[in-house]
Amino acid sequence: MSRKVRARAHANIALCKYWGKSGPLDTPATPSISLALDSLTTITTAEMIDAADDAVVINGKVATGIERERVVRYLDIWRTEKLIEGRVRIESENSFPMSSGLASSSSAFAALATALNELSEVRITQTLLTKLARRGSGSAARSITGGLSSLSNGDDPAARLLVPASDVPWGMVVGVVDSEPKQYSSREGMKLSEQTSPYYRRWVLQARHDYRYMLHALRGWDLAEVGEIAEENSNAMHACMLATRPTLMYWQAGTMDIMHSVVAWRNEGLKAYYTVDAGSHVAVLCHIDDLDEVTKRMQAVPSVVKAIANRPGGAAVLVAMQ
Ligand code: PMV
Repeated sequence: MSRKVRARAHANIALCKYWGKSGPLDTPATPSISLALDSLTTITTAEMIDAADDAVVINGKVATGIERERVVRYLDIWRTEKLIEGRVRIESENSFPMSSGLASSSSAFAALATALNELSEVRITQTLLTKLARRGSGSAARSITGGLSSLSNGDDPAARLLVPASDVPWGMVVGVVDSEPKQYSSREGMKLSEQTSPYYRRWVLQARHDYRYMLHALRGWDLAEVGEIAEENSNAMHACMLATRPTLMYWQAGTMDIMHSVVAWRNEGLKAYYTVDAGSHVAVLCHIDDLDEVTKRMQAVPSVVKAIANRPGGAAVLVAMQ
């Protein structure tokens, strides 16, 4: 009987964003830093099967079209690297909405890579695993290591754990707003920005600068400084996205409502800072002690469908089969 393995990974939200990639190894154009979030998880079960094709089930439904192709293409990378041989059945469950900018690909590909590594006879190191996760989704590399993690730009980078989850005194509240599934994948969006956005080059320079300042601010655990850099970095990435042709306008009215609310809360003395990925939802960084207060305020914003409070999440792990 074939062996079934199961892995769990937390999604992460970047405080310094990665937007832009190049080459066959999907080399990131910008270095990034993220926090893994404990309430946003993907659990993936994988087993080798005796079949002509891979089988992919996502959130209880057989995946078709692009969704399936993306997973199969990823399995092909593992087969080409001779880490697995034959067809695989994948079953993946998310605890949160997918393809809407809620970082689902970060936890999805981190959980998948972790499960595949357990199925493989080869068993690669965590560093190599982050590189392979990156080829499914750039942000997935950072979900392998969890906590506060970084992923540099440059040739074939690995993610690096900066601070383990247990030592991070901050969390994030995610404000979910109504949205349609994304029109372009991150991969397509990044390509479009690089080819058409008049701000792309400027964004790449700014992001590298933000990264250095963020590392410095993190050393002093300066929430105000980290939060301000995170907001500015997110705004700069969205300026580049907005100027892409056709525009990548991920923000909905609800996104703007939350961002304005966060600034107002700050003016009242609450240390809270927003950041937005390639989607409409907003993640708000705050001290763990303020998570309840921020969640309460987030729930009171009229356009917020759901507020999800998160403490820092750990690394991707194998979980026992029931
Ligand atoms: O992980 P990808 O390849 O889908 O790209 C992620 C891009 C952003 O979420 C917008 C930024 C980031 O660093 O996570």
